Amino acid sequence: MKLILPLFATFGIAMSLLVNAALAAEPAAASATSEINTVCPISGKPVDPKITTVYEGKTYAFAVEACRKKWNEARENSLYHKLGGKGAIDAAVEAFYVKVLSDDRIKHFFDDINMNKQRRKQKEFLSAAFGGPIPWTGKDMRKAHAGMKLTEEHFNAVAENLQKTLEEMKVPKELIDQVMAIAASTHDDVLNKPKAAK
Ligand code: HEM
Repeated sequence: MKLILPLFATFGIAMSLLVNAALAAEPAAASATSEINTVCPISGKPVDPKITTVYEGKTYAFAVEACRKKWNEARENSLYHKLGGKGAIDAAVEAFYVKVLSDDRIKHFFDDINMNKQRRKQKEFLSAAFGGPIPWTGKDMRKAHAGMKLTEEHFNAVAENLQKTLEEMKVPKELIDQVMAIAASTHDDVLNKPKAAK
């Protein structure tokens, strides 16, 4: 943690812009149902139903072959994929909230929260932030945490629990560093700090 805390401060502003851009970059792909998407997640144009790819059991359709190639490359190169995809991220979020809910510094924030919903949202958010196939369509981090009066200590406690979870899952350090940089990118929004001047 000694290394991670200063890293949060340094990466906070720059990464916030990056992750927000990344999350907004691609239009919606397939929905969570078995239905196939009708709009290409790369070009935004209507899909050709013959140009499809299957990823984690879901079928995604594209407008042209170049879009399919680009999308497949993005998935293969993503942190999401390197971490082990849906199964690994879902397991990490489950283990993370076990830690959060037994951490006296922060557990009270979740007293009145539906934790099934919270775990699902966190899985969806982190999956999208790590380059998973389904864009985040929930609240932005500033709105989600507005009015909670969160402090650096709260933020660092959450980050510490996330890092410990990944270490216990034997995730390689290089990937943990990338995860922590993405978590750090939400710092200013989660703590409701003024937005950095452009
Ligand atoms: C790495 C930093 C954090 C990330 C990425 C994060 C992510 C999220 C996400 C994705 C949601 C759901 C938003 C939605 O409903 O659409 C959420 C809600 C929530 N977060 Fe965080 N969070 C972070 C830090 C914190 C901290 C430091 C606390 C408190 C210690 C906290 C407490 C909560 C609570 C209580 C909710 C539920 C709000 C509600 O349903 O009314 N979060 N967070």
